[in-house]
Parts: sequence; structure tokens; C-alpha cells
Amino acid sequence: MSNNAASVVIITGGSSGIGRCTAGLFAQRGWRVGLIARGAEGLAAARGDVEALGSRAACAQADVTDSTELHAAANAIVAALGPVNLWINCAGNGVYGRFLDVPEADFKRVTDVTYHGSVNGTRVALSQMRPRGTGTILNVCSAVVFHGLPLMSSYSGAKAALCNFSQALQAELKLEHSPIRVTTVFPPAANTPFFSHAISYMGRPARPAWPVYQPEVVAQGIWQAFVSGRREMSISGTSAAFRAASRMAPGLIAWCMGRMGSERQTTKDPKASQVLEPTLFEPSRRVFDIRGPFGQGARTTSTQLWLESQLTMAAMLFSSARRFRAKRPDVLWPSTPAPAEVD
Ligand SMILES: NC(=O)c1ccc[n+]([C@@H]2O[C@H](COP(=O)([O-])OP(=O)(O)OC[C@H]3O[C@@H](n4cnc5c(N)ncnc54)[C@H](OP(=O)(O)O)[C@@H]3O)[C@@H](O)[C@H]2O)c1
Repeated sequence: MSNNAASVVIITGGSSGIGRCTAGLFAQRGWRVGLIARGAEGLAAARGDVEALGSRAACAQADVTDSTELHAAANAIVAALGPVNLWINCAGNGVYGRFLDVPEADFKRVTDVTYHGSVNGTRVALSQMRPRGTGTILNVCSAVVFHGLPLMSSYSGAKAALCNFSQALQAELKLEHSPIRVTTVFPPAANTPFFSHAISYMGRPARPAWPVYQPEVVAQGIWQAFVSGRREMSISGTSAAFRAASRMAPGLIAWCMGRMGSERQTTKDPKASQVLEPTLFEPSRRVFDIRGPFGQGARTTSTQLWLESQLTMAAMLFSSARRFRAKRPDVLWPSTPAPAEVD
């Protein structure tokens, strides 16, 4: 796996939360980082993080719903940093509220940013990667694809669409024997500014439903999903268990979801109201901390990621052993001469 100083990652939504945290992780590992978002302030802060870690960054302002802007942003970053090895579709936004309380324009915009924005990003990434015949596209999905989350119907639909789109594209690329890979990750709820950026029609600010993880765990999951070459990866044990349960006991999961009212997804904490900055239609103008205000009790490690890393290591050892054995069959396992054929 490419891990040298010349490797380039481009991250949409790289100016905040998970995207900004992932930018820092890749910078730490010697990657050059291209950052795309709408707001100049957040981009400048993320660029500062990357440069403080001793790596190179390039920023470009673009709205992911606008393909022309996105193509121009990618070209500018590639001109500054070199060809892109990994493209991460991370830009996203949400609206909270009962389906009929959410205005149609908001619903459409969530779909546009969260689903079509990633589709646009994928198109741009492929246009960069195809001529070189190499690269990885990583889509940041969500555990909501395993069962839609009440009060987040637009977001649940958009992420489910993104998941199916990724699977269809993986199959197409396989069909044409393309070396370009598509990877999808399913993060759990993460303590990022997402909940300050989301519009809430629930009468109170939104908050992540328990259990919550710190964004560093999600960034680590993105790294591991890329390195392992897995097609899909759940980033926490709860996401993995949720996935398994929604397949094995869909009725039970539907029953649990039907009991999940707004009290699990809203907060009365005045701190959350003070940091509200809805960004569905406008770029963010404020620079938030990478972590949001919901850190109390948030998890900083994931057993699932530890298990995934053990699996990846075992798979790598197994495939090196097979390659070694295939190369030197006569030295290690002398073959016996074939018996003479008889009529
Ligand atoms: N936080 C969670 O609990 C959680 C869980 C699972 C998955 N996710 C997913 O993780 C991704 C990142 O979320 P986050 O938690 O890091 O949220 P965040 O802190 O609000 O970051 C969202 C990023 O997307 C950018 N963005 C939003 N709309 C955009 C647009 N139209 N064009 C270009 N950039 C846009 C924002 O910058 P500008 O506003 O400046 O454009 C920002 O950089 C999203 O896809 C989200 O759905 C989050």
C-alpha cells in the first residue's frame, strides 16, 4: 500500500469534524492533503493543521452539488500537490425533524449534498484516476444505512442511496477489471460539529444518539478501511452489531427504532444552542473545534477496529505466505515426478 511522501489524498468536507480529523491523520503519515469545502475559514484552519504536522496541503472552495466547481477544485489541487491516490467523499449535512415537518427544499438539499455530492465527487475522482489506471475512492456512509433513523429520513435515504451506489460502482469496476477500488465506511455517531451544522425542526438542537465516538476513532477507521482494501467496513462494534441485527432480526430493530423518540436525539444543554450554525444552504463561517460539545462519555477507542486490524494483518501474512510458496515450490516442497501415463 502506498504510504510515501508523494501520496495525495483529497477530502471533500475536509474543513470540519471527521474530514478535518482525517486530514490530520493522513498528514501525520506523510500524505499530502487536498481539502475541499465551501467555507474559507474552516479550510484555512484545516490547512493549518496539516502544515503544522509537517505536510503539504492545498485548499479549494467548492460546493459538492456543483460538478463544474468540483472539477475545477480537483484540478487546482492536483496541479499543486500531484496526482490523487485516494479521494474521500466526506461532505455531508443533515436535517432533523418528522418527515412532514421538514420543508421539501431542505429534504432535497440534504439529498443533493449528502448523496449527489458524493456521486459528483466520485465522477471527478474517476476522471482523475482512470487515465492513470489507479486509485481508491472512499465513501463516508453511516450506520443509518442498516436501518433508517427516525427524525432523519432525508439523511437516512441519502446515505442508503450512497451505499447502494457504491456497491453498484464496485461491481461495474470489477466487471471491467479496473484496478480502481471503491471502499465504503459506516461510522457510528461521532462527536463533531455536525449537530451544530444541522437544521433541527424538533424544537431543540439535535444531538448524536448514544453510543457516541470521538472523531479520531472514525478517522482511524477510514485509514484502516483504505489500508485493508476492504469493500465495506463498520467502524465500531455497535455499527457492526446493528448491521448484523438488522439482517437477522429486522422486526426487532424496527420495533426499537419505533420507540426512539426525539428525547434520544435532542438536547436541552444551552451549550449546544450557543454553537448552532446551520450550514445546509450556506457555507460555515466559523471555525469549530474538530470535536463537538457531546464529548461526555464519548468513546475514544473501538474494539471493532482492533479486530479489523488483526484480520488485516492475518490476511496480509497469509497472502505473503502463499506468494512465497507459489514462487519457490521446488525448493520447499519438491514435487514427485508424475507417474508415466498408461494407455
Ligand atoms: N458526526 C456523525 O455522527 C456522523 C456519523 C456518521 C457519518 N457521518 C458523516 O461524516 C461526514 C462528515 O460529517 P461531520 O460529522 O464531520 O460533519 P461536519 O463537522 O458538519 O463537517 C461537514 C463538512 O462538509 C462540508 N460541507 C457541507 N456541505 C457542503 C457542500 N454543499 N459542499 C461542500 N462541502 C460541504 C463542510 O464545510 P462547509 O460548510 O464549509 O462547506 C464540512 O467541511 C458526513 O458525510 C456525515 O454524514 C457523520
